[in-house]
Amino acid sequence: MAMTMEEAMRARHMVRRYTGEPLSEEHVRLLEERIEANNREHGLGIRLVRGDAKAVSGVMRLTVAKNVRDYFLMAGADEDGLDERLGYAGADLMLFAQTLGLNTWWVGGTFNRSDVASRAGADRPVGIVAVGHGATQGKPHKTKEAGQVSSYEGQAPAWFERGVEAALLAPTALAKQAFFLRGRGDEVSIECDNGIFSGADTGLVKYHFELGAGRGSFRWA
Ligand SMILES: Cc1cc2nc3c(=O)[nH]c(=O)nc-3n(C[C@H](O)[C@H](O)[C@H](O)COP(=O)(O)O)c2cc1C
Repeated sequence: MAMTMEEAMRARHMVRRYTGEPLSEEHVRLLEERIEANNREHGLGIRLVRGDAKAVSGVMRLTVAKNVRDYFLMAGADEDGLDERLGYAGADLMLFAQTLGLNTWWVGGTFNRSDVASRAGADRPVGIVAVGHGATQGKPHKTKEAGQVSSYEGQAPAWFERGVEAALLAPTALAKQAFFLRGRGDEVSIECDNGIFSGADTGLVKYHFELGAGRGSFRWA
């Protein structure tokens, strides 16, 4: 039986080496369906690119990466909030892929810019998310403590604690976890300072927080 999104959140780790086994037609169909839903909901231009051996930079191909062929091209119209919306949609796609038994890797810096930009048309590419059959399942990232990334005014409710715990499982650029979540009543705000990756990190962390806390438990301030 397929795992739930919550289970996927705990099972997901960065995987940079893949077996080379192609995605099945069924996986392609399910991933494309999920991409379409995210594009519609968030006004994005994400696409599944298949069979592109040049997606990550040459240095990565010679060192830590292996058999990266298929990926989500994370792109959209160059408007305010693009990075955050892509981060949010990307979290959904990464966890969904994990429920199918696939692995992923968000590459926001060391992707092959000319190769990827030529496929994005008029859209701005923020990165790629490699997807496929991992040669490994990866391992948990080094993590901060809840108290280092959050505070709640008064006694923190259980949903806030679950949200922060989930947020700490989110992928962030360079595993920086440079975000801070503030809760008060049923409102939560987030700040994130991770340079050019702040927007994508914010979307990824928000998605994870919502999955942990439950979307009905609170609202974003
Ligand atoms: C916005 C963003 C950009 C990233 N860029 C790169 C990158 O350029 N190269 C790379 O090897 N990993 C990149 N990563 C992967 C992170 O290093 C990885 O997600 C992080 O170490 C946390 O590990 P985890 O995914 O296992 O939770 C990026 C991740 C995010 C969220």
